Amino acid sequence: MALTPVLTAHWDDPNSFEITSYKKHGGYVALKNSLKMTPDEVIGIVKDSGLRGRGGAGFPTGMKWSFVPQNDGKAHYLVVNADESEPGACKDIPLMLANPHALVEGIAIGSYAIRANHAFIYIRGEVPHAIRRVMNAVEQAYADGFLGKNIQGSGFNLDVVVHAGAGAYICGEETALLDSLEGRRGQPRLKPPFPAVAGLYASPTVVNNAETLASVPSIILNGADWFKSMGTEKSPGFKLFAVSGHVKRPGIYEAALGTPMSELLDYAGGMRKGSKLKFWIPGGSSVPMLTPEHIDIPMSYEDLSAAGTMLGTGTPMMFDHTTSVVKAVTRWLEFYKHESCGKCTPCREGTYWITGVLEKFEHGKGKEEELTIINDVCGQIAGRSFCALGDAAATPFPGAMKYFADEFLQATKTSADASFPPSATTIFEKAGV
Ligand SMILES: Cc1cc2nc3c(=O)[nH]c(=O)nc-3n(C[C@H](O)[C@H](O)[C@H](O)COP(=O)(O)O)c2cc1C
Ligand code: SF4
Repeated sequence: MALTPVLTAHWDDPNSFEITSYKKHGGYVALKNSLKMTPDEVIGIVKDSGLRGRGGAGFPTGMKWSFVPQNDGKAHYLVVNADESEPGACKDIPLMLANPHALVEGIAIGSYAIRANHAFIYIRGEVPHAIRRVMNAVEQAYADGFLGKNIQGSGFNLDVVVHAGAGAYICGEETALLDSLEGRRGQPRLKPPFPAVAGLYASPTVVNNAETLASVPSIILNGADWFKSMGTEKSPGFKLFAVSGHVKRPGIYEAALGTPMSELLDYAGGMRKGSKLKFWIPGGSSVPMLTPEHIDIPMSYEDLSAAGTMLGTGTPMMFDHTTSVVKAVTRWLEFYKHESCGKCTPCREGTYWITGVLEKFEHGKGKEEELTIINDVCGQIAGRSFCALGDAAATPFPGAMKYFADEFLQATKTSADASFPPSATTIFEKAGV
């Protein structure tokens, strides 16, 4: 396999985020082509391509678009989920910084397809530089007639609003995002009804991840077969893999789905000098960890699921031998406890209790029988919570116990390895700086 630069193809252009650069490389031609088709034809191409949502769940995008009722006389909305707050996930923000017009063009095509005249981009509030870039791209697209009234003389109107969130991870959950966008406290809604039927302002709404929508123009331009020529049958296409952790060159590597993790690790320069891989997580802290013996696994939805984990956001985190699994899991649980919105009891209380017990292990004060208690509490959260944040919070501990139970047992006697998180000096020493 090889890198498949599509979204990242022109990131080395110093002005890659400007409309002039985007148009020079064929930008907005896909939108013009789409406007010559019927909305259903556009949905058909996206359906045929097999594009799956890049926000974590991998739901087929064309199918999601086709759920929006047509000719219902209601306003329809397209909402971009650019909240990206999961530990380890860092691909939408670089994408919006380097290539915001691919997103804007994807929004225009998606809105046309679902017959929406209003779209919203919900961006995590702590990234003002990304917000500025996207606002600039939206303004440029208006000025060039790719947004606004009668786009390219087609009669199609679209207004796009850039909205900054206030830094809550739960606002990435699509229905909490909609509540937040409506000006309420961001908490998940009961489903059904799903957003496609009653979403923003109780109207049919599609919520898509930023990378998902940015992938659409290239599909319209090159066709569904071109997209399917990359990846696997069940996981077609290219993907931004954001490799982070104890590697030589952390960064974004765009490759076909199904590329083995070992190859992505090679692109990232391998583990840092003196580092030995201990465990890794394929896609954000919400998916179970794997070990070095899984390193050749193809990074596809189906292969990772067969290995007992998930592709998630496709943002692998690589941890070396200096990392304490106990400390890493405790940090993640502290995150989930902090971000739990408190709406339902299993998640609100469970994350509180698990974190408290894990912190005892971290300081060498845990008892062996408490490992069973944590496991039981995770079982009470998973599948019993109101939204997937609860399931995510119940994932790191059982995932870690599968491979590193001895480390938790050891932590009943001694405090966990003090080298995680590593000090700045250790980081520079390892990197040979
Ligand atoms: C707690 C939580 C946080 C989430 N955060 C994000 C996020 O930041 N970005 C995102 O696209 N999806 C996030 N999701 C998934 C969304 O609910 C939704 O599935 C996604 O935006 C759908 O887009 P897609 O079909 O294009 O993948 C999150 C889900 C949960 C439960
Ligand atoms: S699972 Fe957690 S984040 Fe989700 S609704 Fe319940 S308390 Fe809120």
